[in-house]
Order: sequence, then C-alpha cells, then structure tokens
Amino acid sequence: MPLIEVTGLHKRYGSRVAVDGVSFTVERGEIFGILGTNGAGKTTTVECLQGLRRADRGAISVLGLDPAADRAALTRRVGVQLQESRLPPKLRVREALELFASFYPDPADVDVLLDQLDLRDHARSYFGKLSGGQKQRVSIALALVGNPELAILDELTTGLDPHARRETWRLVEGVRAAGVTVLLVTHFMDEAERLCDRVAIFDAGRVVATGTPAELRATAGASTLDDAFVSLTRSTL
Ligand SMILES: Nc1ncnc2c1ncn2[C@@H]1O[C@H](COP(=O)(O)OP(=O)(O)OP(=O)(O)O)[C@@H](O)[C@H]1O
Ligand SMILES: [Mg+2]
Repeated sequence: MPLIEVTGLHKRYGSRVAVDGVSFTVERGEIFGILGTNGAGKTTTVECLQGLRRADRGAISVLGLDPAADRAALTRRVGVQLQESRLPPKLRVREALELFASFYPDPADVDVLLDQLDLRDHARSYFGKLSGGQKQRVSIALALVGNPELAILDELTTGLDPHARRETWRLVEGVRAAGVTVLLVTHFMDEAERLCDRVAIFDAGRVVATGTPAELRATAGASTLDDAFVSLTRSTL
C-alpha cells in the first residue's frame, strides 16, 4: 500500500478552485517532489494531507489514515515544515525545539538537530531575532524533531544561502536513509533533480505530469528539468 494516496482531490476557496482533481501516490521510503506554478494548489494539497484543510471531494490516505478523521494520530507520525512558519518571537530556539519534542513519544535529540542545522550558536537566540534563513532552519528542525515516518517540507530551502541549501539536501538524504519518507514542495529544479525519486508537476490545480526527473525531461523532449517544467506548464504572468 502506498504511504500517501490521493485520488480526485478537489478544494475551492469560495468560488476560486485551488485544487481541481489531483491524484498521486507516494511509496514508503521515497523522496517525492511537488513542483508547480505559483498558485497551482501545492500548499493547499499538502495542507489537506495534514488535515489542516478539509477537501471538498476526493480521497486521501496518509499512513493508512484519513487526515480529516485521524488528525491527532497523524500528527504524531508526520513532521511538517509549513511554507510560512510562525513562532512566538520571544521563544528561544532551543526552547522551541524542546517544546515540540515534548509533543512526541520518541523525539530526536535536540542537540544533534541543533548541530545538523548549524543552529548551535543560536540555541539561546529569540526566534524573532533570527535572519530569514535561520528561521527556515528552525522550521526544518521542528519538522524533524518528532522522528517522523513522513516529513512534509513546503519550500524547504527557500531563503537559504547555497551552503545551507547543500547542507539541507544532505540532511534530507540522511533522513531518507534513516527510513523517513519525504514529501517536498519546491520551486528549485536543481533541488528536485538532486533529491527526488519522482515528482508531480502541478499547474492550475491539476497534476500535468508525474515521473522521475529523467522521465519528465524525456516526455518534454527537454535537456533540463527547468525546460521540461516550462514546456509542461503555463505561465501565471
Ligand atoms: N486561505 C485561502 N483563501 C482563499 N484563497 C486561497 C487561500 N489559500 C490559497 N488560496 C488560493 O488557492 C490557490 C492555490 O494556492 P496554494 O497556496 O495552494 O498554491 P501553491 O501552489 O502553494 O503556490 P506557491 O507556489 O505560490 O506557494 C491560489 O489561487 C490561492 O490564491
Ligand atoms: Mg505554496
């Protein structure tokens, strides 16, 4: 059974259709990428997977659970990095990690995570005083602190410098090597090419292509994933 199975997902906000019949599956142990144009429904889809939003139609199974009905059970087994994470500004980095760790039955070692994300020097800093990239690293650490079976990472490396991006890629590869399935939303084609076993490309609420990065390049007759993306989707500008 796939670890994630989404079938015919529909979601609208008022009269605006955000997700218009999305289907895909993610196997256990995969790094699966969701790519897509701005406003294509990627964040809405992953929010439905987490039970943060309720789908209008369609079926979702995550770890064999229905996110709408079993949100509490799912929360203990899924680590989430939201596209916009907000923490109280007066919370210190280590306090935030320890607080989140306390929610889980078998959390990761906070010191190890601080080292892995190069946050050791900021352990006592207020979240509100961190730079954008440092906040981003904290949000990645928070996604991993529960030792999840599935990590959902929405715009993992947005705002990170090239060193931090590479370090984060290595971290994600290490997480996968430890048996965690990863669902990654990204706008970076080099990141998808490097990390993802398979990707789905979203455009205007639909999945327009699914496959390995190499398959998508071949389908589009393109030499790079960037070119394949551009030929498979429509500009939102
Ligand atoms: N809370 C909301 N209320 C109303 N409309 C929303 C809301 N959230 C998203 N939308 C709309 O739904 C559509 C899909 O948005 P979503 O955030 O899922 O896109 P996305 O693929 O994650 O885009 P991006 O690449 O810009 O992050 C967009 O048209 C957006 O304007
Ligand atoms: Mg988004």
